[in-house]
Amino acid sequence: MALRPLLSEEQIQTRILEMGAQIDADYPDGNLFLICILKGACYFLADLSRAIQRDVFIDFMGISSYGRGQTSSGEVKVTKDLDISLEGADVLIVEDIVDSGVTLSYLTSLLQQRRPKSVRIAALLDKPERRLRPVDVAYVGFMIPDEFVVGYGLDFAEKYRNLREICILQPE
Ligand code: IMP
Ligand code: MG
Repeated sequence: MALRPLLSEEQIQTRILEMGAQIDADYPDGNLFLICILKGACYFLADLSRAIQRDVFIDFMGISSYGRGQTSSGEVKVTKDLDISLEGADVLIVEDIVDSGVTLSYLTSLLQQRRPKSVRIAALLDKPERRLRPVDVAYVGFMIPDEFVVGYGLDFAEKYRNLREICILQPE
């Protein structure tokens, strides 16, 4: 497998600072909860939360989706739930990448049931060509082509998460 650089550390960090400033402008008051979707979004959460100047709460959610890549059943299982209540809060789901949209469309409706004030999505990467379910992504870092990418939290079989940049993974 070969790694072809797609987004440098500097490009990623510059864009995240812009996203943080936009989020600050969009949420002038109220409790803002950043919900990190494990494991891929952990670095994005760490950098995005520090690009936001206002107070935020953070929590983590683990999910696994079935049938991705073949016929997607749309079934998503929560493997680690939140520790906090979302009632009355502005919720921002922090995700590494939106691909088919199956995970996020399920998750958005799940979190809506917990009576938050609002639910929005911040995703570092978006592969719009692959969408099966419509999802409204309020904050997108980068639109990318339909390629398999790794690094900055994204993995292939749990490998490459700790790369500082994002690379396209290609067969030799
Ligand atoms: P979706 O439900 O198809 O949108 O799945 C999104 C999830 O698939 C992401 O949270 C990633 O975990 C994974 N994923 C999708 N595309 C890639 C990729 O190019 N590299 C690594 N993981 C990916
Ligand atoms: Mg993920």
